[in-house]
Amino acid sequence: MKFLKIILFFLTATMSAQQGGMWIPSLLEGMNEEEMTNLGSKLTAKDIYDVNHSSLKDAVGHFNGGCTTEVISPQGLILTNHHCGFSQIQSHSSLENDYLKNGFWAMNFDEELPNKGLYVEFIVSIHDVTKEVLDMVNDDMTEKDKQSMISKTSNGIMKNWPRESWQDVKIKSFYKGNQYFLFVTERFEDIRLVGAPPTSIGKFGSDTDNWVFPRHTGDFSIFRIYADANNHPATYSKDNKPYQPKHFLPISLDGVEEGDFTMVFGFPGTTNEYLPAVAIEHITKNFNPTNIAIREAALKVIDAEMKKNDAVRIKYASKQARIANAWKKWIGEDLGIKKSNAVAKRRDFEATFKNALKEKNLVEKYGYILPEFDRLYKDFAPVDIKRRNFIEVFLVTNELMQMTLRAYQFEQAITAHPDYLEKAKERLTGILKGIHKNYDVNVDKGVFVNIMPLYGKEADVSIYNQTAFTNLDDALKLFEGDVNDVLKKLNEDAAYQYAKPIIDEYYNTIDKEFQQKNEIITALQTTYMTALMEALPNARYFPDANSTLRVTYGQVRGYSPRDAVYYNPVSYLDGVMEKYVPGDYEFDVPKKLRDLYETKNYGPYADKNGKVPVCFLGTNHTTGGNSGSPAIDAYGNLVGLNFDRVWEGTMSDMYYDPEICRNIMVDLRYVLFIIDKYAGATNLIDEMTLVHPKNKKH
Ligand code: ARG
Ligand code: GLU
Repeated sequence: MKFLKIILFFLTATMSAQQGGMWIPSLLEGMNEEEMTNLGSKLTAKDIYDVNHSSLKDAVGHFNGGCTTEVISPQGLILTNHHCGFSQIQSHSSLENDYLKNGFWAMNFDEELPNKGLYVEFIVSIHDVTKEVLDMVNDDMTEKDKQSMISKTSNGIMKNWPRESWQDVKIKSFYKGNQYFLFVTERFEDIRLVGAPPTSIGKFGSDTDNWVFPRHTGDFSIFRIYADANNHPATYSKDNKPYQPKHFLPISLDGVEEGDFTMVFGFPGTTNEYLPAVAIEHITKNFNPTNIAIREAALKVIDAEMKKNDAVRIKYASKQARIANAWKKWIGEDLGIKKSNAVAKRRDFEATFKNALKEKNLVEKYGYILPEFDRLYKDFAPVDIKRRNFIEVFLVTNELMQMTLRAYQFEQAITAHPDYLEKAKERLTGILKGIHKNYDVNVDKGVFVNIMPLYGKEADVSIYNQTAFTNLDDALKLFEGDVNDVLKKLNEDAAYQYAKPIIDEYYNTIDKEFQQKNEIITALQTTYMTALMEALPNARYFPDANSTLRVTYGQVRGYSPRDAVYYNPVSYLDGVMEKYVPGDYEFDVPKKLRDLYETKNYGPYADKNGKVPVCFLGTNHTTGGNSGSPAIDAYGNLVGLNFDRVWEGTMSDMYYDPEICRNIMVDLRYVLFIIDKYAGATNLIDEMTLVHPKNKKH
């Protein structure tokens, strides 16, 4: 395949210690291995990924599909972020047992708490199946036919792929459909909560500090994987045993300092590194600002009510965190794109691309691509914005609208298939119960008033007094009876009458138009990727993140966010105390932690200057999904837990600038200090392997 030859060519051609990129762990030999060595790594590609022997990858799991986790003991103890385990911690919490507020620590196996639905998935092996997947595809096919051929062929390959009975396989597309990999996986479904610090440590600084440095958050929580009697994946059973991993990460007590090598190993979710300039412009100038405005309007109400009322605080904790997180990220993304001049730089790059097309006689083949992007995006922008705004209103911020949307989908389903009634009722009932578990009608009404005008619709609040949906029992009664009864009651409901035309407009116009235009842009993006690699074969290409296992590497480094300001790469416990505001909902510090600070009771967790490091920065290229990922030192030991990026650097999802893009990690010494000295959970420390790699000769 031509594509593979291109890859091989730049593998040998580019050997400088460049940074940025999320690399496929089974393909590190060559360029990546060399770059890592230049940055200070002592690891070989085989130490990181090996199918015949245990390797680092065996200690890295996908946590519930959205975060990363790593194994840190021979008994299946795993570490991830506090914000990754947040909804589990929340769901075990009540006003009497407020684990969010007070933390939770299991002092023995029996006290560990099971979590329905939570899973951890490991990668057993990775295989390039590009040739097989694309075997039946040719250029005469329409885009639709290509895609259905690809999925048909993929299904066949997966069905026949050799695997053990407890394993699964999946195929994922890379480089915009220019390459395909198959993953053999093992999914564990008995995952128990072992420990979590109080929010005042695990979420210290909350939204004010989220996405920024200096940072002082102990963003970690601990779980344990349980397996069946054969150490294979199993759903929950009290007879299950702690999982014995193929590999677990030793933890370094020596930490890292500025200039030291680090790699982050995890499951980054989505990036868009090969967008044309016109797309970056659309996203940051038009798309983001409208969604930021909707979230801001919702947060105004939610934040105020959570501060007033503890029951609301617990109910809305997860939802608020989710809404606020992307809200703040998008603001940073827009700032970073501006600050780094990303649009202009992407245009410069496009000029280079155009020149290369000329030099290589490829103008006829690919010269249409960039002008076509300009034309398509102009046409696509309004519907892209409208569609996403709908999602923000109907799926992210307002619960009454969410319930009407689910009811609408229910109506569609049973109108088409009246015999699905019972199944559809069961599904909808589950959804309504889930929403009402954490529902407060006043919060929701306030949100509604603030956001509907931003979506261009009048906010008729009277529906909140008339609808059945705001009360779970009343809502469930709507769905009693046969198809005719149910549809009659539903269509008489005030909120449903209000929302139905808006939802109709979404499905019949907005979403249809979006799908049609998006498909064309996606296909062009595939061709653009092919063209880039053909015209500029020596550039350093990595595949966009797609929730598969990746390696990114760099060094510990500070950065300068603006003129005359420089951020040191390491923050300390002293900084926690500097930020301490007694009783504050974001910056309170528990008494126990203040006492430990007063008495300098740090055990072996202080650095050589007697200070406890809390967070540190690196040049590792990460994104959402890398939360909870291990930061690994030059020798393969755990030194940090990835949990965030710096604000101006969140544009690395579209444009990685080594000057200002930094990932933020909790220092493992802070994690151990909290477990040991703060929580007294020495039972957990005893399970781990603590090492001093810097004392040793290597
Ligand atoms: N910004 C980080 C991430 O994207 C952390 C989010 C959780 N922390 C918070 N204060 N909401 O997930
Ligand atoms: N906190 C993010 C997550 O949940 C990681 C930070 C980022 O987006 O880089 O994955």
